[in-house]
Amino acid sequence: MLFKRVKPLDQILATAEKKALTRQLGAFQLTMLGIGAIIGTGIFVLTAEAGQKAGPGMMISFVIAAIVCALAALAYAELAAMVPVAGSAYTYTYGVLGEGMAWVVGWALVLEYTIAASTVCVGWSGYVNGLLAHAGYGLPDFLRTGPMDGGTFNLLAFLIGMAVTFLLVIGTSKSAKVNTVLVIIKVLALTAFIFVAFPAVKDPNFKPFMPTGWGSPMGGIGVLGAAASIFFAYVGFDAISTAAEETKNPNRNIPIGLIASLGVCTIYYLLVSYSAIGSIGSQPMLGPNGVALQPGTPEMAAACKASEALVCSREALAHVLRVLNHNELGNLIGLAAGIALPSVILTMTYGQTRIFFTMARDGLLPSGLSKIHPRFHTPHVITLITGVFVSIFGALYPVGQLADITNSGTLFAFMMVAVGVMVLRVTQPDRKRPFRTPAVWIVCPLAVLGCLLLFINLPPVTLKVFFGWGVVGLVVYYLYGHRKSHLANGTEPA
Ligand code: ALA
Repeated sequence: MLFKRVKPLDQILATAEKKALTRQLGAFQLTMLGIGAIIGTGIFVLTAEAGQKAGPGMMISFVIAAIVCALAALAYAELAAMVPVAGSAYTYTYGVLGEGMAWVVGWALVLEYTIAASTVCVGWSGYVNGLLAHAGYGLPDFLRTGPMDGGTFNLLAFLIGMAVTFLLVIGTSKSAKVNTVLVIIKVLALTAFIFVAFPAVKDPNFKPFMPTGWGSPMGGIGVLGAAASIFFAYVGFDAISTAAEETKNPNRNIPIGLIASLGVCTIYYLLVSYSAIGSIGSQPMLGPNGVALQPGTPEMAAACKASEALVCSREALAHVLRVLNHNELGNLIGLAAGIALPSVILTMTYGQTRIFFTMARDGLLPSGLSKIHPRFHTPHVITLITGVFVSIFGALYPVGQLADITNSGTLFAFMMVAVGVMVLRVTQPDRKRPFRTPAVWIVCPLAVLGCLLLFINLPPVTLKVFFGWGVVGLVVYYLYGHRKSHLANGTEPA
């Protein structure tokens, strides 16, 4: 049942009113685009979570996550170049595995985009709360974090989510120039951090190197558990694949852009994490039974009360610098995060609204959702609904849990994309492929296995949320989309 109703790829290309975009992006611009989408809450905030899960061994986690991303990205780029239309993995799946699976993937992408936006709201709030507190205007504790994290309502996470939603409703989008400025700010901040923290590195801080071992499936801890969480630090690289249609010589430039941006970020992440671990240490907080506590739980919040440990910080990089007595620079890093992170929230929320928009256009969601505002020419209804949810999740949940949920949806979508590439190579070998995944029969199976490895190392609560969300999605589909689908009813808008 799930695999019926495959939408012919040519029909997808036709209904998407393919605009002929000029091919103007080269390898350098693609790399900047990638770095702009990648660097965010992951390295600025989740370094603390990764430390809690793996200790200094998180450096291996960064490398594992980067390899899985590189494999997934090479697969993603083939479909992105073949079907360069809105909706990304949802649309590709519609054309390869059919409507039911497409719905499942679209539903999983909600976790990727909406929850990623919430995650970055919480990350932003951590840094801005830190800045305010150091300036003497700190908010009361209960307004700094959500209920599972020792507070009640994360006010700043909520406000930034709503502010970004407002910008999207009035039609703000990110320009290439703004992106370049933000990339420079982020890279400068990380470089300054490395310059100051690196010389303070001391050998003993790396011992024990892997206090929690490799971890075990569904344990959510250890080097693999940290890799599954820190995967978030690389989410966003698909921005490059989706620019395939605007790229000059995509067969050459897309792999270069992908590998270069992932490579630059990985080197930065390794240097930053090495400097953070080596300068102030990153051993996990242990529970009464000697086992590392799961981040984002009340037990962890209690253990972290009044602790200066890296793994307890909500503004990891600024915190390291403050501990090293570089208060001013710590504030500057906080400022850089405060300026740069909202653009990640904007990109993610925007991505979500466009996916919902595509699903509504296909009849799988009510068409009222895709209403366009008469003055701002934006899909304001769906933007407002998405933004309210982004803000509320940000206000209530801990950053690590949100990141893990994002990763579950993203890893699932990437797995489906890699499967889709292989299916299409067999079923439609002659279709024009502006970009071909190199060594496809090695890269795609490894991409599936890599995503699966990270997926099963997410914490049990994340997997429960993922599957619970999936069941709700199937019920919604059979009650609504299955009957209303334009493809099934032959009511495709002209
Ligand atoms: N990779 C992006 C970040 O870390 C989503 O914020």
